[in-house]
Amino acid sequence: MCGIVGYIGQKEASRIILEGLEKLEYRGYDSSGMATVHQNSLLTRKFKGRLTELIQNIDEKPLFGQTGIGHTRWATHGEPSDINSHPHTNNQNTLAVVHNGIIENYLPLKNDLIEEGYTFVSETDTEVISHLIDYYYTGDLLSAVQAATQRLKGAYALAITSSLHPDELIAVRYESPLILGIGEDEYYIASDIPAFLSRTRKVIYLENGDTVRLTNEGYEIFDSSHLIAHRDIQEVKWDVDSATKEGYDHFMLKEIYQQPEAVRNTLNRRLDENGEVYLEGVHLTKEMIESFNKIYIVACGTAYHAGLIGKSVLEKALKITVIADVASEFRYNDNLIDEQTLVIVVSQSGETADTLASLREAKAKGARILSITNVVGSAVARESDDLLYTWAGPEIAVASTKAYTTQLIAFYMLALYFGKLKGSLDAHSYKEHVIELQSIDDSIEDTISQSMEIAKEIAEEIKEAPSLFYLGRGLDYYTALEASLKLKELSYIHAEAFAAGELKHGTIALIEEGTPVITLATQDDIYEKTVSNIKSVKARGAYAIGITTHKHKDMEQVCDKVIYINTTTSTYMPLISVILTQLIAYYTSIAKGNDVDKPRNLAKSVTVE
Ligand code: F6R
Repeated sequence: MCGIVGYIGQKEASRIILEGLEKLEYRGYDSSGMATVHQNSLLTRKFKGRLTELIQNIDEKPLFGQTGIGHTRWATHGEPSDINSHPHTNNQNTLAVVHNGIIENYLPLKNDLIEEGYTFVSETDTEVISHLIDYYYTGDLLSAVQAATQRLKGAYALAITSSLHPDELIAVRYESPLILGIGEDEYYIASDIPAFLSRTRKVIYLENGDTVRLTNEGYEIFDSSHLIAHRDIQEVKWDVDSATKEGYDHFMLKEIYQQPEAVRNTLNRRLDENGEVYLEGVHLTKEMIESFNKIYIVACGTAYHAGLIGKSVLEKALKITVIADVASEFRYNDNLIDEQTLVIVVSQSGETADTLASLREAKAKGARILSITNVVGSAVARESDDLLYTWAGPEIAVASTKAYTTQLIAFYMLALYFGKLKGSLDAHSYKEHVIELQSIDDSIEDTISQSMEIAKEIAEEIKEAPSLFYLGRGLDYYTALEASLKLKELSYIHAEAFAAGELKHGTIALIEEGTPVITLATQDDIYEKTVSNIKSVKARGAYAIGITTHKHKDMEQVCDKVIYINTTTSTYMPLISVILTQLIAYYTSIAKGNDVDKPRNLAKSVTVE
């Protein structure tokens, strides 16, 4: 999991690469490095720590050259250190490689290369690549790279520069994202578009197995069979500002504020003038929907929590079994999947390794794959039969917010669409649901502004707590899971979510005097049951905070503090209540002095198992 950037053109490469790396730091930030080619020499700098280390070094001692590659790292093989940072070079220091991904067979390759006389200096899997290219090098860099990559197993996006080929840059994409940016007599390569968006909007999404050879004059793309390939140039529509903070203190806060708009985009563009849902990327017919015997929803982390809510609403709308599973388990389970199974894959990045592997596993067993993803052209998107993009825009903060709420919208729309197609949802309820959904963006907007102060207050109250519990029943339980994940990843407080009725079977033993317990009670049909669960934790000394709607004033009798949130139908309450919990996590992180956008030990997209 890392970010890579490459540049070839007439300008000083180092500035352009640093600028690109700054935009990619969300992909990993434990070390960074760069290599340029200048006067037929390969110049390399690399450091453990944040990108500022590299920037400072290059500010003090400029790195010259008009061809170069850069890297921002999230360690997988080998701890973060100067030596393990990328780029990695060959023993003669004539070529350098940056890599995003993982080389599964690096150990046997390393042993073979050691036998051939190569010396390794790092603990990384990447270093085998630089030596392997060297091993196959007979004068043509492209063929050496192609020969070397044929021996690699795993996932890799690579950029390679060499002092023996100062006017050439080679890049390869296999199972890790890589995009080519096309300028005027200059070219960029990067793991994500913001890296070069201030310089060009013309991009090519490289396909799996593609190798690209860049020179000042142009580019050539070769497919996995090493044949010249044509790939369409696409124009990026979104603005570079959408990848920067726009005056907010943190990307996370900006993304919380973007939710009304993101939800509007995801929803409104799929409603016609009569309020009918149309999903252009979903090609399922009534007959196909009727033929499914079950649906699996597969995802990781926050996307999985969206999937749990998806399970509930799809089950209700379609009246068939829907199972939600975490991808890291799903991929190794003996799931009962066949041609009559629909598998819905949810992934913001569309590149998460476990999710992608689950998709392939299910596909191999004959399932139909529908994906909900935010990244256009991502691996998940490309490998699915049906596709529903969440038009949330780039999500930079590691902690997911707007991707989650738009994933919920995607599920609500699928439930309406399928329910109508199958005939299991009557026209009247369909209409009512659409009307309710159409005003949800305003309700989210109000909730954001109404929740700021109270979220700061709660943050102050809980910031020293060693642990905290979120409780809920039904959909509130699923929101509680997401709320506790957000709180723990940002505040580093031990936070757990429990189905409120399950607590008495063991977990209640953890409640001590003053333990904060935040209960979501927005589901009217089970409200009374939830209140009695609050009473039982209160009786054990918990500091009870309740989150409910305005009609439930009686909650004040059982809680130390009650927060009232906007009301919509119970089905859509997760879109409202989660906002408050995102803000609680955000302000607790700030109260503790943590790095909000880059919590420790985490990275934005997890492209390794
Ligand atoms: C938490 C978070 C993660 C991701 C998970 C899946 O805030 O963002 O739990 O949801 O890593 O990522 P995607 O959706 O990119 O597959």
